[in-house]
Amino acid sequence: MTRRPLLAALGLLGIAAIAGAVWLSQPPAPPDPAQFRSPAGPVPASAQRPGDPEAGRRALLNAPYVSCGIPYGAYSRLSPETDPDMLIAGREGRNAELPYMLTSHVNADGVEIVANNCLTCHAERIGGELIVGLGSAFGDFTSDPNRLALQAGTYVRGAAETRAWQHWAERIAGIAPYTQTKTVGANPAPNLTWALMSHLDPETLEWSETPLIDPPPEDPLPISVPPWWGMRKKNAMFYTTIGRGDHARFMLLASMLCVGSPGEVAEIDAYAPDIRAYIAALEPPEYPYPIDPELAARGEAVYRDACAACHGSHGANVSFPNLTFAADRIGTDPAYANAATDGSRDRFYDWLARSPYGDARSAAPAPGYIAPPLDGVWATAPYLHNGSVPSLAALLQSEIRPKYWRFRTDPRRYDPEAMGWDYDTLDHGQDAETAPEARHRIYDTTLPGYGNAGHTYSDRLDDAARAALLEYLKTL
Ligand code: HEC
Ligand code: HEC
Repeated sequence: MTRRPLLAALGLLGIAAIAGAVWLSQPPAPPDPAQFRSPAGPVPASAQRPGDPEAGRRALLNAPYVSCGIPYGAYSRLSPETDPDMLIAGREGRNAELPYMLTSHVNADGVEIVANNCLTCHAERIGGELIVGLGSAFGDFTSDPNRLALQAGTYVRGAAETRAWQHWAERIAGIAPYTQTKTVGANPAPNLTWALMSHLDPETLEWSETPLIDPPPEDPLPISVPPWWGMRKKNAMFYTTIGRGDHARFMLLASMLCVGSPGEVAEIDAYAPDIRAYIAALEPPEYPYPIDPELAARGEAVYRDACAACHGSHGANVSFPNLTFAADRIGTDPAYANAATDGSRDRFYDWLARSPYGDARSAAPAPGYIAPPLDGVWATAPYLHNGSVPSLAALLQSEIRPKYWRFRTDPRRYDPEAMGWDYDTLDHGQDAETAPEARHRIYDTTLPGYGNAGHTYSDRLDDAARAALLEYLKTL
């Protein structure tokens, strides 16, 4: 075969052409890192485009914002039946019979595609009820996604299905090295996004099989998906408040897996403000078990004293200060905040500024974490940005936080006392397990980025005050 040398020769011609172009024009100035930073402290509000929440829910559940996936033919051969528990109301056409995290559409080639939608990471079931907007605590990103893509490939029939499958499988192969977390439940979305940026031209959004800029490190830092209803109060998206400016535009990043042109982004951008409006109008779910009102009232006083300055107040005088705190002040695992601000991601912020997904001021992380709104906090276990603390009881008392723990999943059960999913404390970390499935079920807080230290603001409370505080948190 003579293709290799030919390609190499073409490559050399390309390099010569680029060298010539650089000779003739000025090289682009390196980006000024200062424009991609915000100080710790208050996060200012930014204007949002208005939208219609109802249209937003419809789009969220039905629109093809993720435009590549498994051809429906292959999907139906792979999984011929849908568990009725996986259906959700408000779905149109084929979607009415698909699991809630999958959306179908017909692509430009006339092939029906089934693609993962936002609810893959942004919906979770508690007590049998699917809660849209609750971050998925059990999503499994520990294995190589190429395996699913290749398996689906064996069910593909005909040229058009094959082309559609190839488009998706090629993208999956590009991101696969950067999406594998060490623990089930830990989410790789930010690293996945950086990996896509490294393969896409920011202006044309053309995909390149080889990276155009340095990809991110392979191991994603673990992220616990925040609940959508916090966006009622938050001035910026994400734990490091990197998502400033137009939030709807930032949400479009979830379409990046498949896009191939700015026109495609513009089409989705037309209804993205509706999706944002839906998300910003979501209410937290109510705590479904009994609450002791007197105990909760005593807890409210504790909260006002020890927590409200950072997390805001609830009830008649709602307020939310939108404050970020330096990672070394809060003491929680600094890896994620450091990565966002140590210069190692600036090429991605620059990509964003040059792309249809943002502008120069929209990617501006602070060197720490936001004190998030605590609305519906009873439902959002595990806690902290990396999901390292399995229950609220453990968050409020750092000495009882387990170093190694594992969710009980068969069946999974919500523990209304500790406030979180049932878990077992283990006497060993991931090193002690050889089978990948067993290893990946363990949350090992000794792994880099997985630490559970810091945020010790309630350690000094006595047991009675802490019990009261826990009771109050059930009411938010
Ligand atoms: C692969 C999983 C995944 C998918 C799919 C996904 N998200 Fe997210 N989303 C995340 C993670 C993880 C975060 C938190 C990232 C961070 O804070 O750094 C997040 C954060 C957000 C936030 C900010 C919440 C907050 O409080 O800061 C919004 C809003 C959001 N996503 C909307 C969407 C929309 C809309 C879609 C679909 C178009 C989507 N997401 C698809 C994983 C995902
Ligand atoms: C000095 C400011 C500050 C104070 C005081 C404070 N917090 Fe926090 N809190 C934060 C920050 C910042 C985070 C995010 C840390 C992270 O994710 O690593 C956080 C995270 C949390 C979380 C995790 C939220 C989630 O969804 O994962 C809970 C719960 C919480 N705080 C409750 C409390 C309670 C209860 C008090 C009062 C005893 C309190 N906090 C006092 C700043 C503060």
